[in-house]
Amino acid sequence: MNYIYSNYTKYVNFFGKTNPLELIKKYGSPLYVYNENILRQRCQQMKNLVTYPNFSVNYSTKANSNLYFLNVVRDEGLNVDAMSVGEMSFELKAGFDPAQILFIANNVSAEEMKFAIDNKIKISVDSLSQLETYGKINYGGDIVVRFNPGVGAGHNKKVVTGGKNTKFGVTPELIPEVKNILKKYNLNLIGINQHIGSLFMDTEPYIDSVNSILAIAEEFENLQFVNFGGGFGIPYYKQNFQMRLNISLLGEELDRTIKKWVKKCGKKIHFKIEPGRYISAECGVLLGTVTALKQNYENKYVGTDLGFNVIERPILYESHHDIEIYRDEPSTSFDIEEVTIVGNICESGDILAKYRNLPKIKEGDIIGVVDAGAYGHVMSSNYNLRLRPAEVFINKADTDILTRRRDTINDLFAPYLI
Ligand code: LLP
Repeated sequence: MNYIYSNYTKYVNFFGKTNPLELIKKYGSPLYVYNENILRQRCQQMKNLVTYPNFSVNYSTKANSNLYFLNVVRDEGLNVDAMSVGEMSFELKAGFDPAQILFIANNVSAEEMKFAIDNKIKISVDSLSQLETYGKINYGGDIVVRFNPGVGAGHNKKVVTGGKNTKFGVTPELIPEVKNILKKYNLNLIGINQHIGSLFMDTEPYIDSVNSILAIAEEFENLQFVNFGGGFGIPYYKQNFQMRLNISLLGEELDRTIKKWVKKCGKKIHFKIEPGRYISAECGVLLGTVTALKQNYENKYVGTDLGFNVIERPILYESHHDIEIYRDEPSTSFDIEEVTIVGNICESGDILAKYRNLPKIKEGDIIGVVDAGAYGHVMSSNYNLRLRPAEVFINKADTDILTRRRDTINDLFAPYLI
């Protein structure tokens, strides 16, 4: 097997005893591939972020909800958050105890809240009206409230969830109203949470938000926990040697901040974080096949089966993913050319990677989309009535196992009644 352009996957032995060509031959193209050892390492890294003992990690399932993936996360001793009845159902199916799940509700219906209540799953609400809804259906119950700490961060304005321009969280000025509603329905506020946004690469905004929510925590008497949220970034520009988020520095600063607060307030409460991307992104690579090459005026296009139905991040956020190329013959040329890699969806915006300088690509080459384990398969769709890809794991023994099959045409017909 020749890896004609592959630094990341080769370096980390991503494909174990197999290789991208064999995987595509065996399972078809396109294909999501995950590496279990990398996933386990990331879980452990997050678990050991601080030395303060009352600390746990809620993996944010929305980033990757593959059932095998969730089983590994559970096996590593992490808890989970959920955004929907679907995510809670998957987490229960993967063997999480209801006490390990936190339903972070945003504009949900009373029926969705009831699902959580019936299953003994704790709920976080993020508005006064949702707190009222909860009070009405679960008088005297435990509740968590999500606050907006006034600080936001993220790789794109669509994923900044703290600060002035977002729908999320209760603003701190409304604390008296929160207290009134808690009293009215005899609710027990067991925790508060926040999430400032997705993908920060510096420690500062996160630590600022931690300080803000700890100030809010002082307003409430009987809290059992404070959840600081996720958003820990990963370097998507690995081929350009992008620096990693300094996770040990972040851990030290977080540890110091927590311990200082605990000492000041004399409350040995529990603290949680809620990473999704950090745990899942780098353990996933999306494989696809080059189906056509063409020159349209100034642009050289590489046509593939990697449309935005398969990976939506580039078209939705203009996100960058490093590209690798695999071919089963030695590279005869070291020529680099500028290409735009596109998919097979009938929209001009269907672009995976724009103006990339890559070794000459041929028809039949396999393309690897690096760092595709977070918000990859979960955001794929059947647009153009295409089939969502299968998902394979390279397990602890470096062997490939199919965990989710590719959709079939019959899956597309299945919900129809006429
Ligand atoms: N907690 C809450 C309440 C969240 O809303 C999120 C993500 C997380 C935790 C986990 O954030 P993470 O650690 O993964 O950054 N589709 C986008 C990302 C959307 C994130 C939504 N919320 C993307 O592909 O970049």
